[in-house]
Amino acid sequence: MQDGKLDEVLRIARQKGYFWPSYEIYGGVSGFYTLGPMGVILSQDIKELWRSMFIRPFGFLEVDSPSIMPYRALKASGHVDNFKDPMAECRSCKAKFRADHLLKDAGINAPESASAEELEAMLNDNSVKCPSCGASSWSVRPFLTMFETNIGPYEGSRGFLRPETAQGIFVEFRDLYEINRKRLPMGVAQIGKGFRNEISPRQSVIRLREFHMMELELFMDPQDEGAPEPPSNVKIPILHEAARESGQPELISPAEALSKGILKSKWLAYFMYLSFRFVQALGVPPDRQRFYEKIKGERAHYSAQTFDHEVYLDDLGWVEVAGLAYRTDYDLSSHSRESGVDLYAEERRVLSTRKSVRLIVDELRKRDNWQELARLKPEIREDGVYLGEVRLRDSEYKIIEEVEKEEVRKFVPHVVEPSYGLDRLMLVSLYYAVSEREGRRLLSLPRPLLAGVVGVLPLVSNDDMIRKAREVAESLAASGFTVIFDEKGYIGKRYARLDEAGVPFAVTVDGQTVEDNTVTVRERDTWKQERVNASELSRYLRERGSPGLELTRH
Ligand code: GLY
Repeated sequence: MQDGKLDEVLRIARQKGYFWPSYEIYGGVSGFYTLGPMGVILSQDIKELWRSMFIRPFGFLEVDSPSIMPYRALKASGHVDNFKDPMAECRSCKAKFRADHLLKDAGINAPESASAEELEAMLNDNSVKCPSCGASSWSVRPFLTMFETNIGPYEGSRGFLRPETAQGIFVEFRDLYEINRKRLPMGVAQIGKGFRNEISPRQSVIRLREFHMMELELFMDPQDEGAPEPPSNVKIPILHEAARESGQPELISPAEALSKGILKSKWLAYFMYLSFRFVQALGVPPDRQRFYEKIKGERAHYSAQTFDHEVYLDDLGWVEVAGLAYRTDYDLSSHSRESGVDLYAEERRVLSTRKSVRLIVDELRKRDNWQELARLKPEIREDGVYLGEVRLRDSEYKIIEEVEKEEVRKFVPHVVEPSYGLDRLMLVSLYYAVSEREGRRLLSLPRPLLAGVVGVLPLVSNDDMIRKAREVAESLAASGFTVIFDEKGYIGKRYARLDEAGVPFAVTVDGQTVEDNTVTVRERDTWKQERVNASELSRYLRERGSPGLELTRH
């Protein structure tokens, strides 16, 4: 592992306005970060990229549900009983820590499935020291990691800040299914905040108490998933259950992993492929990614199969950026039981149909004997439709087919969920974007990230040039760009500031602009400059900032 790069990334993140720890004037509160102006733009761009890869191509739905949830809903979902972390309390000074983290820091790897009793024994048997007072006597108990609140003025109306956005989707399944005209598969996404009252948050934005999530709940018929074919020509590294013993991921195509039974759902296979491409589009090389299977006891209570999508950071090792879980019918069944409202889907199978004939009277009237014919009952025979012994022309009738008998199969849909931690994605994309060119720092975020941000610089600080540069800036802002206007100091320094902030293009207004309305556009990663007419600027920047179709086509 290489120390120091993460510190550098966090320094740039703060200095350039991406994110930094909140409430520092009050001494700081662990687990809370504020997104600055560049962080807001980067997070919007990642959300848009996600929508363009996971939502729009499939016609999936997106919702925005409340952050506060009533006790009953989270009791039903299993979170009240299961959403707990092992908390170690020092018997001497009463300081509290996450038991597994204390052990890890002492070089002892506790299995994720270890119980509170087992962790307590491991801490005490290994005489792990309290980081606060140095004592080594511990008690461990489960700690509920949801923030609790009271809804309204009366005591007893318990509520929680949602630990995942997913639950806000499950509880609305009935309406969403209707809105989707009772069709499966149905994908419902939610981008919003999640809250977890971590015992001891650490590692900057890796473990937050309030964080941004992007979640997609894919509802499907387990008998016929209706998933796209996972590719057979792309290999992804999967550290599946059988491979975990060797520690070496298997490089395998999602299609093969599905056919070998390594993956339990076709949608899961497809989403793993998509996830791999998405994280790559954020700038993480393929060989710095892997899918790590969580085994029973490590998985969340609702999951039959889970893969953490992990990214390797030199300073920290493998870091989870997404969880892909096969949640089966667990959530919908649990909410049905608790609420008393059946949450199910229907599959209608037609057993028989009935055909009837509608005469097109305007056409029939063209016959001389039409009144006579119209009194007869139409009859459908093998070779056509007859009125008496007269065979009708195709234009004179329409056959209507109606369902006579059908069978309705009711079932609880199964759910496959890819769930992303947006703050972590921002961190890993910044991490892989930090680079150097001729001894200078660059933040080379891949397009389309920050493609809507542009620097506008008058070459020298005289009135004419500043006026012209302001005109260019206003016109770009009117076309939807976020403009960073910088007129102060030596031009090389101003370019360097923009490069380090990750701004992909700098537009410079110089003496020639005042004469012929052309500007220079300088590209962050190559430092190449091109002269462009100011009237063409926004189209030029849009084209250069777009990743092209490749990324979003499946
Ligand atoms: N919804 C997945 C998670 O909360 O991790």
